[in-house]
Amino acid sequence: MRVLGLPGDGIGKEVVGSAVDVLKEVASDIELDYALIGGCAYDTTGTPLPEETIDKVKKADAVLLGAVGGSKWDKLNHNLRPEAGLLKVRSHMKVFANLRPVRIFRSLLSASPLKEDIIDGVDLIIVRELTGGIYFGKPRGIEIKDGVYSGYNTLVYTTPEIERVARVAFELAKKRKKRLTSVDKANVLESSRLWRDTVDKIADDYPDIELNHMYVDNCAMQLIRDPKQFDVILTQNLFGDILSDEASMIAGSLGMLPSGSIGDGTGLYEPVHGSAPDISGTDMANPIGAILSAAMMLKYSFDMIELADKIEYAIESVLSRGIRTPDIAFGAKEIVGTKKMTEYIIDEIGGV
Ligand code: NAD
Ligand code: IPM
Ligand code: MN
Repeated sequence: MRVLGLPGDGIGKEVVGSAVDVLKEVASDIELDYALIGGCAYDTTGTPLPEETIDKVKKADAVLLGAVGGSKWDKLNHNLRPEAGLLKVRSHMKVFANLRPVRIFRSLLSASPLKEDIIDGVDLIIVRELTGGIYFGKPRGIEIKDGVYSGYNTLVYTTPEIERVARVAFELAKKRKKRLTSVDKANVLESSRLWRDTVDKIADDYPDIELNHMYVDNCAMQLIRDPKQFDVILTQNLFGDILSDEASMIAGSLGMLPSGSIGDGTGLYEPVHGSAPDISGTDMANPIGAILSAAMMLKYSFDMIELADKIEYAIESVLSRGIRTPDIAFGAKEIVGTKKMTEYIIDEIGGV
């Protein structure tokens, strides 16, 4: 089990540190290596995704990424931005399906701004297409013509791109509550029209799955109104990005949400949140999203389901004792920083 850590920038470094410590606790035979990505990679090598990092990714069995970005690099040319490094590594690894589970830890019910009876029992997963759509479509650019600037991007999906991610979502639904909601904007966008038709065709292979289609604007509302109606949500790259940040508040904080990206080979695991420049360096980051991402790695890349469960139980148990980072402080008995939270979780694993 060769795991490559790509801590990145800001709190990415802090939370990957936590996740690695937890991994070492549960699976001491994991071989770890590290490489640069994002702004720190740009500062050292002049590119956000250096060749050396790509070489190490090729040798790894799984990759654990923190987050990239920060205002220091915001004025850089598009291709040199930290975010471009992240998109390139996803594309290079061909991890086309990004799984973003949203589950509620019971003791955090009061930490969400939503009413407890609305969120109690939520267990949904967003399957976000990750290597296509408007993030990657061409042409793109900013041009000046007759003294007027225009900025443009292309939202394009091909049938094979939709089919493969749809199959991942249907397969997941099969193992869950057998409900799939495909989210699009087919009332306006041709790419969504194709998305909907393609998902309908794949559905023929999954007669046991109850499929419904929903427009993305309605879905954004339904996630707040009645999130329990969802089991698996399948959607395109940009919609999945936005809906998952929204859905994180059901779980109490963006810092709670993990993700795992799968494709044909090596998996990529990263928390849903970004580099959080506003709290970086203050030991205030919630490491649980990153730690749960490491648990997803054990489950999806290494089939070590028991170890993944052990991590989740330990988190559940620490939270139930009222130990909280500041972002989920509501109802806390003890407010702790990133490092202390990690120590508590590791101690709990030791005692399981
Ligand atoms: P962000 O996710 O970094 O932060 C949004 C808010 O959530 C901030 O107030 C932050 O403090 C809080 N937050 C995020 N993670 C947290 C955690 N673990 N614990 C406690 N609070 C947490 O989003 P942003 O501020 O819009 O973006 C900052 C930078 O991160 C940008 O450069 C952006 O491009 C980048 N970004 C990177 C990724 C990634 O690498 N996967 C994801 C999102 C944003
Ligand atoms: C995420 C992030 C990234 C995305 C950015 C930083 C490129 O927001 O992983 O959710 O939009 O995919
Ligand atoms: Mn995002």
